[in-house]
Amino acid sequence: MIAVLISGQGTNLKALIDDGIEIAVVVSNNANAYGLQRAQSAGIPTVCISNEDELIGTLQNYELDLIVLAGYMRILSPHFVSLYERRIINIHPSLLPKYPGLNTHQRAIDAGDDEHGCTIHFVTEELDTGPIIAQEKLLITNWDNVDMLKHRVQALEHALYSKTIRTLLRS
Ligand code: GRF
Repeated sequence: MIAVLISGQGTNLKALIDDGIEIAVVVSNNANAYGLQRAQSAGIPTVCISNEDELIGTLQNYELDLIVLAGYMRILSPHFVSLYERRIINIHPSLLPKYPGLNTHQRAIDAGDDEHGCTIHFVTEELDTGPIIAQEKLLITNWDNVDMLKHRVQALEHALYSKTIRTLLRS
């Protein structure tokens, strides 16, 4: 069973739902996250929590194999990370270790990179630096702008996240 933590649109969450991944609960720190509606439409329990102790308490009601961060815009404390060591994963819109943090598409364009993509990694105490599980690449073209790159990278994310989660749940 997995829990999915979101803060916003939830397009990655939608991809997991559409792919038939079983989700015990969707948690958002933001009551207006559109992803909450996506989960509710799919009949998945949702909770809105911003306090980390409450978050831990809620997650402990479930037997979770994985905690999946999908656009969750909060940094987890070392305490949280230690409770779920190697069981928290995140998807990041760059080829880590390049471009941890925000504005990854703009940074890749500004640097004149030929390739870009997304990375799935285990979450550790340090932002966007945990062990890499999977990456998917694309070539940046001359006509790519930030919006186009974001869409192209998200298409890669949606396919890679459910494939990787299935593999992790089987192992
Ligand atoms: C994704 O691009 C992911 O890489 C990043 O946040 C974004 C979330 O998008 N961590 P969505 O909420 O899944 O649409």
